[in-house]
Amino acid sequence: MTDRAEARTDTDASGTDSPERGRTVHGEPANAGHRVLAPDDAEVEVYLKTALHAPPPSRDAGTSHEPDTVVVLDFGGQYAQLIARRVRELHVYSELLPHDTPWAEIARRRPKALILSGGPASVYDADAPNADPAIWSSGIPVLGICYGLQLMARELGGEVAPAERREFGPASVTITAEDGLFRGIEREQPVWMSHGDSILRPPEGFLPTAQTDSTPFAALADADRHLFGIQFHPEVVHTPAGREILRNFVVGIAGASPTWSSAGFIEMTVAEIRERVGEGHVICALSGGVDSAVAATLVHRAVGDQLTCIYVDHGLMRKRESDLLRVTFEQSLGMKLVMVDARERFLARLAGVEDPEEKRRIIGDEFIRVFEEQAATLGQIDFLTQGTLYPDVIESKTAETKAAVKIKTHHNVGGLPADLRFSLIEPLRHLFKDEVRQVGLELGLPEPMVFRQPFPGPGLAIRIIGEVTAERLEILRAADWIVIDEIKGAGLYRSLWQSFAILTPVQTVGVMGDGRTYANVVAIRAVTSDDGMTADWARLPYEVLARISSRIVNEVAGVNRVVYDISSKPPATIEWE
Ligand code: XMP
Repeated sequence: MTDRAEARTDTDASGTDSPERGRTVHGEPANAGHRVLAPDDAEVEVYLKTALHAPPPSRDAGTSHEPDTVVVLDFGGQYAQLIARRVRELHVYSELLPHDTPWAEIARRRPKALILSGGPASVYDADAPNADPAIWSSGIPVLGICYGLQLMARELGGEVAPAERREFGPASVTITAEDGLFRGIEREQPVWMSHGDSILRPPEGFLPTAQTDSTPFAALADADRHLFGIQFHPEVVHTPAGREILRNFVVGIAGASPTWSSAGFIEMTVAEIRERVGEGHVICALSGGVDSAVAATLVHRAVGDQLTCIYVDHGLMRKRESDLLRVTFEQSLGMKLVMVDARERFLARLAGVEDPEEKRRIIGDEFIRVFEEQAATLGQIDFLTQGTLYPDVIESKTAETKAAVKIKTHHNVGGLPADLRFSLIEPLRHLFKDEVRQVGLELGLPEPMVFRQPFPGPGLAIRIIGEVTAERLEILRAADWIVIDEIKGAGLYRSLWQSFAILTPVQTVGVMGDGRTYANVVAIRAVTSDDGMTADWARLPYEVLARISSRIVNEVAGVNRVVYDISSKPPATIEWE
């Protein structure tokens, strides 16, 4: 994503610092150095960069549809995003904002509660991140977690200092006061700690409510002012009572209604889109991935035929993928769909190209051209819808992302047309991936589409090592189909992050029937992962591997050997190119 973010900087003439795709809310390149949280829509985004001067949709509508909101202020902790997810799992809407968001911005969301995340800094660092002081006197319940607690303690007159013993990892706390936060929770609790500073003296009005062996102030509360703090992390699974503690805070203390649901989200979003689009026209580039599919379906529900979807068939898709798309969107959902057969064009431009980065660049560039040509035939277009997800908007500024180096070019497209000015509709920009899937199911999208494994924008082109030709594409498509078929047949598809075949440039000797063969080696890759950033090779049962291997060699002409990739990421990457 680094490159996309860099390219953005080049083309961003607006001079504004509003959060945008590819940038974190802190203005850093999102996911710097990594590839992809929502890979399936990535190629589409390349084109959409041109529309980025458009303001993001506001949630100002102030309609009665608005759910109760919990604002999480991000102090840079690795778990900040997770806090927002956990709150949403309690069916309360939650947004992550930078720690220094002005009070007016926070108040605009009418939050029921504020949560201050952890963070790597010490409150005594010269440039320690702070929050608008208005949060302490707003009367809105505040829960400080780890750094958030230390900040609260220091800002309100307590004393914080480097701990004698750093606490990192599992610890045991003893709850010493039955306040609202710990209601119904056993006295002794395993928790997850990660901090270097400790509270020496709580501020006036605060009472200790939990302790560990190394600190008498593992939790503090000033119930009168609705201010609470805990030194440990309730958002991680290593704190088993964490969910209950968050529920006690969000629902019990702050009184937020647990009404956030897929159905409610759809209703609210459809109403917002309808109001915003009015009589206008919308286009959407479908990629075959779940994000653009759900985004398009939401817009379609709102404005029907005012939406036209464009699907660029670059010929690098898997077998039957384009058919599935047509059946789903055109026949089942009744959408206006323009399918562009651009297979020849892509193949022609990829002829003779072996370098992976060059393949990516060409595919991104050609995609833009085709999409642009099609859009130009559609008359007046006012809006463009895109499946931006929440993690892309908020990706935290962790040390890891700051220090990250570029590993592979994601998309590197120069010369984007600067004169395209659609307004963007990003109906998913507040959702996490699993929420998008739930919304997709609720909207009636078929399960295979909703639970599809991520598929890279450049498609099979980066799984054919060396030159991409029609013949090699056919071999890979056939082998890939068998892999997926067998993985699905074994009930493993959803447990794997990705599973696919790679066509290597290696040819080896084999024997078939009475004859000697000299044919291609196909590699199989199957990995488990949470987000694609790291991955482990899947321990597929030997029987499954055996079936895949024998079927490929028997059914796919031109392949006589199958190997299994047993590399994890790092040091390898998931894709071979
Ligand atoms: P790597 O190979 O870097 O892949 O471990 C991580 C995730 O990103 C996907 N990927 C891409 N997605 N365009 C995309 O849209 C690309 O150029 C691209 N390269 C890799 C990959 O499939 C995996 O999920």
